[in-house]
Order: sequence, then structure tokens, then C-alpha cells
Amino acid sequence: MKTFALVVTALVTLAFLSGCEGPAGPAGADGEDGLNLEGFAVGIQCATCHSADTDTLYYVAGRVYQWESSKHALGGDIERNGPDCAGCHTTEGFVQATDGKTVGQQTHPSPPGCFACHSPHARNNFSLRKQTPVTIGSNIVGVPDAVFDYGKGNLCAQCHKTRPMSPKMDANPPGDSLVITTSRWYSHYGVQGQVLMGDGGFKFPDFTYTGNSPHTNNTIIKQEGCPTCHMAEGVYPPSMGTGKGGGHTMNIRFDFNGTPGSVLNGCKQSGCHTSALTSVDYHGVQTAVEHNLDTLGTLLANKGWIDLASGTVKLTGGRLVIRPAVKAGAICNFLFIEHDLSLGVHNSTYALELLRSSIAELRKP
Ligand code: HEC
Ligand code: HEC
Ligand code: HEC
Ligand code: HEC
Ligand code: HEC
Repeated sequence: MKTFALVVTALVTLAFLSGCEGPAGPAGADGEDGLNLEGFAVGIQCATCHSADTDTLYYVAGRVYQWESSKHALGGDIERNGPDCAGCHTTEGFVQATDGKTVGQQTHPSPPGCFACHSPHARNNFSLRKQTPVTIGSNIVGVPDAVFDYGKGNLCAQCHKTRPMSPKMDANPPGDSLVITTSRWYSHYGVQGQVLMGDGGFKFPDFTYTGNSPHTNNTIIKQEGCPTCHMAEGVYPPSMGTGKGGGHTMNIRFDFNGTPGSVLNGCKQSGCHTSALTSVDYHGVQTAVEHNLDTLGTLLANKGWIDLASGTVKLTGGRLVIRPAVKAGAICNFLFIEHDLSLGVHNSTYALELLRSSIAELRKP
């Protein structure tokens, strides 16, 4: 009710300030989830988008069909709808967050959908809701926050970014002991932006890191960002993926009536790869990363630091003490590359070196 009163006051004030215009329309009903007063653009014609018959511009029906096969629609983590989570896990919370409002509890949430990434009614188009560079918080003491700036990919990184981790990874804490008190000691799950730019992993002081894969600075990826690869449309022939992979499914691998397929059109555009690329596991990168993840995971499990089945840190009596603290970097790197989910494709050099250096560190006598 309080919000309602505020909104009414705001509308009355607006009507007052814009004196010579017509009377203000009635205030909208106050949704229990808080208002997102975006409204409709002036002169909007519904059938531009709402009739497959007339919509030869946006193909909304086709996009809706693609989105319905995406993890955005199907992931199922939409029950994360409280104030701390809804800003990324629900359309309603994300709109509040990008509008600079306080993200509230979402009682009737919907997953990240058309109105999260676009604002079609208010803008009467499908421009991206937010595309400004994203500050990604550092969870490593001594490493500054990073600014992610990959054009259209900046939309993705609004959500696919870290959440604060406590304590931060610290190679030099008092007494050289790092005390971990949460089993979820990691930067949440959306670490893809950091991996792409080559940031967020722990670099061991006595290991030489050589940099990043060509994806990090590729001109097209710098402008188009994540959609370069994830949103390329499948085209038949040869890909059977139309509507099932690429586009708004965001999936690169897909299932075509039981036969696995992958949308590689994004990879093979000019300025990127040639026809020599025939699989997602190009140059065996995914196989190599998987192998290194297995080795590192086994080392960590044998030390009793990680529970592999749940992918969490193993606590005893509510804590895990790592001494010397620098070795905790291996836990960070394992969960970081595991949560990236691309098995090295985003940045193969970076991913492999983080894993190999962690393995070397744990094998030191
Ligand atoms: C620029 C494109 C665009 C225009 C123009 C447009 N809409 Fe929409 N609208 C969408 C999209 C996209 C959705 C969400 C996907 C869907 O439900 O088709 C949507 C959803 C809706 C929904 C909710 C449907 C549901 O099942 O969730 C309603 C109601 C609606 N629009 C009404 C209108 C009306 C009325 C107009 C004209 C005054 C209009 N729209 C004009 C793009 C548009
Ligand atoms: C509004 C926040 C938000 C935005 C913006 C967003 N995502 Fe997501 N994304 C999510 C969430 C939340 C999930 C997990 C959904 C679940 O598990 O229920 C997800 C899941 C995914 C997945 C599937 C992950 C898996 O585990 O298989 C892919 C791929 C993906 N997003 C790519 C993208 C790309 C590419 C963009 C930009 C074009 C993007 N996302 C923009 C929130 C967002
Ligand atoms: C900054 C944005 C953001 C916030 C805030 C956020 N999440 Fe997420 N979360 C994501 C994204 C993005 C993914 C999907 C990453 C992927 O699958 O690659 C995700 C995935 C998840 C998953 C699925 C993990 C899996 O293995 O499939 C769970 C569970 C989850 N989040 C819980 C939460 C909870 C609980 C909160 C609130 C305490 C929360 N999230 C807050 C962005 C966020
Ligand atoms: C997770 C974010 C995300 C979601 C959800 C999303 N879109 Fe998009 N959409 C994008 C991005 C990014 C692009 C630009 C893709 C590109 O340029 O390759 C785009 C492009 C489009 C375009 C082409 C725009 C143009 O001007 O040609 C249309 C139409 C569109 N989306 C409609 C939809 C509809 C309808 C939905 C809901 C079913 C939807 N989008 C949901 C991110 C999203
Ligand atoms: C160079 C191409 C490329 C770029 C750029 C890219 N990705 Fe990926 N991404 C991939 C490939 C390939 C996979 C692995 C797909 C597989 O093996 O199924 C992947 C996997 C993922 C996954 C795991 C879910 C899935 O579909 O397998 C998520 C989530 C994801 N990427 C999000 C992002 C986000 C967010 C960005 C931008 C910050 C991004 N990606 C940029 C190529 C790319």
C-alpha cells in the first residue's frame, strides 16, 4: 500500500508538473511484486509482433519457439526468487535491477525471457535492454575488479557475472592460514565473461602464464560478444539445428531427434575459423580440459578439500583451514573452470594453464 501511495503521489506530481497536458490516466494496479511502469510506446501496432501472418520483421513466434528450448526457459532455477537472487534469476527482478529499483521478492516470477533482455512494448523494438560495460567484482585479494566490455555480450554479463565470495581468496592471510566457512566457496556460476576475458582465476606466483586464446581479443567477439557463438542461427543444409540450437536457444550443441548436432556457423564466419573446424571439440580442447579437471578434482578430493559429487567444499565442524593459504588457489581454479561449462572453449589457454598450474601446486611435496 505504501508503494501505491507513493506512485499516486508521483503521478499527481507529474500531472501537476506537466500542467498543460491532458489529465493523467488512472494509476495502474499495484502488483504485489512492485511496479514496472514501462508501458506501451506511442503509436505501437500490436500486429507488428503479435501475428505470425504480419510479422515479417521480428519473427517473434519463431523466437519464442527457440527460447522455449533454452535453459533460460527450462533451467528450473526460477525458485531463486528472493531479493538476493531475483535480479538475475527472474525477468521481473532483472527489470527492477536495470531500472535502478530495489529488487524485491518475486511472488509470481518468470524466468529470463523476452522482457528481460528487451523492452518490446515500451520501445517498440528489440534493442537490448542494457548493454553498458559490466564491472565484475574480484574475489581475489590484491586483484582489482574487472570491466567486461564485449558489445552485445554486455547484456549477458549483467547476469553471467560473479557474486561476492567470503572470505576472498587470499594467498597471504595472517598466519598463512585461510579459513573457509562455507561449502559454496566460489564465485557463483556465471563466470563465462571472466573466463572469456582472462580474469578471475588464481595465478600462482611461481608459474608462468602465457595469456589468452584468440577469442579474448577477436574483433567480432569484442563487438558481438557471447551471441557470436551462442546465437548464430542454424541453417539447413547442413545443420538440422534450426529452432533447436543457436538463435534464442543459446545452445551450441543440440539434440535432433536423438542425433547430436552443433551450430558452428558462428565459429566459421570470416574473421574467425575456416572449414577446418568441424566440431566443438576443436583441437581436442574440450577433451584436454576435461582431463585436467578430472586430475585436479581427484587431487582435491584425495586431500579431503572437495566433495566431487556435490561440487562443493568439504567442511569439518563448519570449517576448512588451508595452510599454506596459497594452495586454496587450486580450489578456486577447479570450481571456476568447472562452472564455466565450456570446457575451455571460451579461453583455452587461460583455462588449461589455470588447471595445470593448480595440479603442479598440489603435487609439490
Ligand atoms: C515490438 C514487438 C511488440 C509489439 C509491437 C507488441 N508486443 Fe506484445 N509482446 C511482445 C513480445 C515479444 C511478447 C512476449 C512473447 C509473446 O508472448 O509473444 C509480448 C507479450 C504480450 C502480452 C502477454 C502475452 C502472454 O501470453 O504473456 C500481451 C497481452 C501483449 N503482448 C499485448 C500487446 C498489445 C495489446 C500490443 C499493441 C498495443 C502489443 N502487445 C504490441 C512484443 C510486442
Ligand atoms: C536476466 C539475467 C540473464 C541474462 C541477461 C542472460 N542470462 Fe543466461 N542465464 C541466466 C540464468 C539465471 C541461467 C540459469 C537458468 C536456470 O538454471 O534456471 C542462465 C543460463 C544460460 C545458459 C545455459 C547454461 C547451462 O547451464 O547450460 C546459457 C548458454 C546462457 N545462459 C547464455 C546467455 C547468453 C549468451 C546471454 C546473452 C545473450 C545470456 N545468457 C543472458 C541469466 C541470464
Ligand atoms: C549476478 C546474477 C546472479 C545472482 C544475483 C544470483 N544468480 Fe544464481 N545463477 C546466475 C547465473 C547466470 C546462473 C547460470 C550459470 C550457468 O549455468 O552457466 C546461475 C545459476 C544458479 C544455480 C544453478 C547451478 C547449477 O549447477 O545448475 C543455482 C542453484 C543458483 N544460481 C542459485 C542462486 C541463489 C540461491 C541466488 C541468491 C542467493 C542466486 N543464484 C543469485 C546468476 C545469478
Ligand atoms: C537472454 C537474453 C535474451 C532473451 C531472453 C531474449 N533475447 Fe532476443 N535478442 C537477444 C540478443 C543478445 C539479440 C541480438 C542477437 C544478435 O545480434 O545476434 C536478440 C535479438 C532479437 C531479435 C532481433 C532484433 C532485430 O532488431 O533484428 C528479436 C526479434 C528478438 N531478439 C526477439 C526476442 C523474443 C521474442 C524473445 C522472447 C521469446 C527474446 N528475444 C528473448 C537477447 C535475448
Ligand atoms: C567463441 C565462441 C563463444 C563465445 C564468444 C562464448 N561462448 Fe559460451 N560456449 C561456447 C562453446 C563452444 C561452449 C560449449 C558448448 C558445449 O560443449 O555444449 C560454450 C558453453 C557455454 C555455457 C555452458 C552451457 C552450454 O551451452 O554448454 C554457457 C552458460 C556459456 N557458454 C555462456 C557464455 C557467455 C555468457 C558468454 C559471453 C560472456 C559466452 N558464453 C561466450 C562458445 C562461446
